[in-house]
Amino acid sequence: MAKILFIGDIVGKPGRKVLREVLPQWREKYRPDAVIANVENLAHGKGVTLSTLKSLDDLNIDAYTSGNHVFDKYELAKECFEQYPQLIRPANYQSLKVNDRQVTVPGHGYYRFSKPVMCHCERVHPSEVIYYPDKIASSQARALAPRNDTADGEPGHYVNQQFLVLNLNATVFMQDQYSGEISNPFLAVNEVLSQQGQKGDIIVVDFHSEATSEKIALGWHLDGRVTAVLGTHTHVATADARVLPGGTAYISDAGMTGSRDSVLGVKKGNALTKFLDPNAKFKNEPEEEGVLAINGALIETDDKHRVVSIERLFQEITNTK
Ligand SMILES: [Fe+2]
Ligand SMILES: [Fe+2]
Repeated sequence: MAKILFIGDIVGKPGRKVLREVLPQWREKYRPDAVIANVENLAHGKGVTLSTLKSLDDLNIDAYTSGNHVFDKYELAKECFEQYPQLIRPANYQSLKVNDRQVTVPGHGYYRFSKPVMCHCERVHPSEVIYYPDKIASSQARALAPRNDTADGEPGHYVNQQFLVLNLNATVFMQDQYSGEISNPFLAVNEVLSQQGQKGDIIVVDFHSEATSEKIALGWHLDGRVTAVLGTHTHVATADARVLPGGTAYISDAGMTGSRDSVLGVKKGNALTKFLDPNAKFKNEPEEEGVLAINGALIETDDKHRVVSIERLFQEITNTK
């Protein structure tokens, strides 16, 4: 069995702050085996930088997904992709323009990692490394009696579970939000899965998308083929977390991690100025005052990698200086 914790778009300093405070509590409470977080808005609401990513190093997040804002600070983002293989961008970004100049698209659209995950089955895992809580042993060590010191107190052993994280960007209402070409995500995911997917993988897809229709359609497209399809980008969590009939965990949007009393993380006054006068210049500044909120989803699978549940998680904290 495995538990995967996914954290929705972390927006600027307030997002990093609430993540830092709540993630250790959620680790303690839910004991996730893997943690994945969307960081497209990590650096002051726009993209990623080495310093903001480094500030999360000690939180031991296994993979970072992103989206249309990830290259807002292009040169800085490029450094991040060079230094953080666990940082990915949508697989279907075909090209990118910065200041009207065609540039290379840094990074990849998928990331594979493995973690020891508890298994209660009775079978021998011949080719897999078996982990016991206090040591790493070869598969021969499976002959040792099952141990009682596993995380949930049940007899079990630890196996080396492979996780494959994919990131895709939608196309509906998105072309104006990314300065490059975005290819068809439905076809792109088929290609990535056929090239990268392996039997026994836990596969988590972050679908960065504006339209709920496109998100739900991708959920159906991948139902039974991946472990989870988790929407990001709209920054508003949806109430539709469920396991689809084919066994894929689904939510249209996991929600945002940042300032609660804002417009998608941005100072409400800035957003209102733009709505009241469409010709006004929009200042994309994260709100740093007031209550902070963290939003995400917890997915649980059984020993055969079947999804047991998906639960939407959220918490608010007081923003103390
Ligand atoms: Fe976002
Ligand atoms: Fe986005």
